[in-house]
Parts: sequence; C-alpha cells; structure tokens
Amino acid sequence: ADTCAVIVAGGSGERFGDPRSKQFVELCGLPLMCWSIMAFDRAPSVARIVVVCAPDRAAEVEKDVLSRLSLAKPVVLAASGATRQDSVRSGLEEVPRDLDFVAVHDAARPLVETEQIEACIAAVREDRALAGAILAARSIDTLKLVEGETIIATPDRSFYWAAQTPQVFRTPRLVAAHRSAVRDGYQGTDDASLVERLGGRVRVVESTRDNIKITLPEDLAIAEATLMTKVT
Ligand code: CTP
Ligand code: MG
Repeated sequence: ADTCAVIVAGGSGERFGDPRSKQFVELCGLPLMCWSIMAFDRAPSVARIVVVCAPDRAAEVEKDVLSRLSLAKPVVLAASGATRQDSVRSGLEEVPRDLDFVAVHDAARPLVETEQIEACIAAVREDRALAGAILAARSIDTLKLVEGETIIATPDRSFYWAAQTPQVFRTPRLVAAHRSAVRDGYQGTDDASLVERLGGRVRVVESTRDNIKITLPEDLAIAEATLMTKVT
C-alpha cells in the first residue's frame, strides 16, 4: 500500500442546514462520514487514513464514527481550518512522506466506491507524466455561459466534466501546490486546480453521477436510495 487518504470532514454544512453538520447526520444507520471512511478502508492501496474535522468534534468522531467501524487501517485526526483548502493543508501534515500518493476526499461524498478509489490511484501510479487523477463525470446537461441572465455562449459540452473526489496526487506535488497557494493567496475550489496552476498534468477518471456530494437536504434521500440498491 502506497497511498494516504485525507478525508475532509470539517465543514459546517451551511447549505444543508442541519445543526449537527451534514457529515454527522445518519445515512442508512451510520453517521454519513462513515461510508466514505469504510470505502477507503477497503481499498488495498490505502495504508493510512487522515480524517480532518473540527477540533471540538474530535471526541464525537472517535466515539460515534471510528470506534463503531472496526477499521483495518490506522486512522489519525487532523484539525480542520476555515476553508476546505485550509482543511486539506492541515490534513497533509499528517501524511507520511514515504507514502507516494495522497487521495483527498470529501466526507460529504458517501457513495464513492472502492473500485473508483483504486482506479484513480492506479491511473497516477501507472503514468509517470501525471501529477494527479481525479474522479469526474461527463456533463449531461447543455451548458450555458451566462453573464447576469444573458447567455453569452453555448460551449461544446463534450469538453466539460464535473469534478468529484477522490482527487489523487503524487504526495510531493500536492504538498508543493498547497504551499504555493498559501504563498500566492490563491483559493481554489478543489485540489486539482492548485496542482494545475503549477503546470502539473492531472487527468480525469470517468465517474458516474452516483458519487454525489451531499449539499442540500434533499440529497440525503437520494443517497439513501442509491445505497439501498447497492447493499441489496
Ligand atoms: N470541508 C472541510 N473544512 C472546511 C470546509 C469544508 O473539511 N472548512 C469539507 C466538508 O466537510 C465536506 C467537503 O469539505 O466534506 C466539501 O465541502 P462542502 O460540500 O462545501 O461542505 P460544507 O462547507 O460543510 O458545506 P457548505 O458549503 O454548504 O457550508
Ligand atoms: Mg463549503
């Protein structure tokens, strides 16, 4: 095993709106973040898991999440920051430098499958020219470039993919990208964008739309229904 997972679970879930934060709400009988942690725990390439959470919820993660799961891999906690990017940077401090790859994942994506995690890691491992590989889904809607409410252009949607997680990188490349982002005051909405801006080549690994990020309250029922079809 040559990969460290960094699962970011330090957000407050404003759009979801539950006071417990969405990563802690129950999904098919377990706190939501359990599902992605289990998927990484089952991945043969993953040696270690870093869970990034708010310091005042660390005890809850230990008790309601980690101690309930009997995981095979060692898990360590890291303190989240003000933004997702800050949380990933904090998690990277707990990544052993002798693990070649780091897989960053949103705790809010409970439906990720172990095979998808392995496919992203394998993509980077097998191509020396790659700095990283991310799970992404082809755009199915027609996309519009809009200014105000006016359509400016209808780009060829075949060029557009929706970025998901995991996003897997060669460890030194992601560490360098986060250092550089801090130095330059750059805020990205994912990790790949930080690596891309340093000229790193990142490829997509085709995903399905199933790997949704729980963002709004209605997403929970969708995830529950999808999980049920997988378990049965
Ligand atoms: N995240 C984090 N630290 C932050 C912000 C986000 O670890 N400071 C994590 C979230 O817990 C989530 C993932 O990053 O697993 C994706 O972020 P998002 O879906 O935006 O979650 P929240 O920021 O919690 O939700 P919202 O933006 O609606 O407040
Ligand atoms: Mg957010």
